[in-house]
Amino acid sequence: MTGDRGRLVGGGARPEDRMDHALRPRTLDEVIGQERVKANLSILIEAAKARGEAVDHVLFYGPPGLGKTMFSHVIANEMGVNIRVTAGPAIERPGDLAAILTHLRRGDVLFIDEIHRLGRAVEEILYPAMEDFALDIVIGKGPGARSVRLNLPRFTVVGATTRLALLSAPLRARFGAVYRLDFYDLGAMEEIVRRAAGLLGVPIEPDGIAEIARRARGTPRVALRLLRRVRDYAQVRADGVITGRVASEALDLLDIDPLGLDDVDRRVLRTIIEKFGGGPVGLETIAASISEEPDTIMDVYEPYLIQLGFLARTPRGRIATKLAYEHLNIPYEGEEQQRSLFDEGV
Ligand SMILES: Nc1ncnc2c1ncn2[C@@H]1O[C@H](COP(=O)(O)OP(=O)(O)O)[C@@H](O)[C@H]1O
Ligand SMILES: [Mg+2]
Repeated sequence: MTGDRGRLVGGGARPEDRMDHALRPRTLDEVIGQERVKANLSILIEAAKARGEAVDHVLFYGPPGLGKTMFSHVIANEMGVNIRVTAGPAIERPGDLAAILTHLRRGDVLFIDEIHRLGRAVEEILYPAMEDFALDIVIGKGPGARSVRLNLPRFTVVGATTRLALLSAPLRARFGAVYRLDFYDLGAMEEIVRRAAGLLGVPIEPDGIAEIARRARGTPRVALRLLRRVRDYAQVRADGVITGRVASEALDLLDIDPLGLDDVDRRVLRTIIEKFGGGPVGLETIAASISEEPDTIMDVYEPYLIQLGFLARTPRGRIATKLAYEHLNIPYEGEEQQRSLFDEGV
């Protein structure tokens, strides 16, 4: 659990982690975009505050880098309570979770990242904790064993997952509020880049902001990373100011194309198109051909490719669409083939 404690106090040891910590919005007002989620959260928070209660349990889901962790901290901050940060894979045994639960104070937020990766036995401790604020512990062994129920203070579980489908139904049912985070629109992305550059004191022109925002695949984490790289480039290859041209050159050098696709995105599409005739082809096969993890492709790469309409998931596997061929400048011949696939109801 030492890793969790590190995240709790310092926001990470690497300079870039510390920078992220400094840039993280603290209040709902500071959060850019996700208007629907913000509106719902502000009602949830205000109502709980007015009643003097803990906020109902909240679940965030969506692709990485869109603000799930950020929102969990905002909730704790707006409520004026402590946040305890942990993650599904970090809680190995039921006793680990019991130890965390017994240290919570009234109203605290328990943030469980990657909550779909909680073990079965751990989940069973969590059910009564979330529902009845109770911890059932077994004392003794064998025939003499008996169960004792401990009362817990009222607290809030904030869960985050990239894979809602992997969450067990009983766990999902215990969340009073479930929010999906979507990719950000261009206006919000520009605002995020502008705010970060301002906080970091990086000189940037409107064209530079637009260029970074456009290529950041609707994802704040990507925008912040690109801003750091473009800032480096501006310092070393220019006079430190991020103009549209400087940003464009820096991003070209990073192999990020005008839509924000990187080398891995393009390899995924090229593999489907060049090795498997446009698909359908299974995720595992794609992953093996480009030496990436299937989970990484599914969580990190596919959602944006799907959002762009470049890739489609069918029961028989992934297919590259006509738009993907056009983007990669590959002649499209699969019309017949894909039409017959759709006709089959695939
Ligand atoms: N709406 C937003 N406005 C400004 N910065 C944001 C916003 N959403 C996320 N960020 C920043 O983007 C980065 C990624 O967000 P994070 O909460 O870690 O994503 P997730 O947990 O969904 O993977 C963090 O540095 C966070 O502070
Ligand atoms: Mg996170």
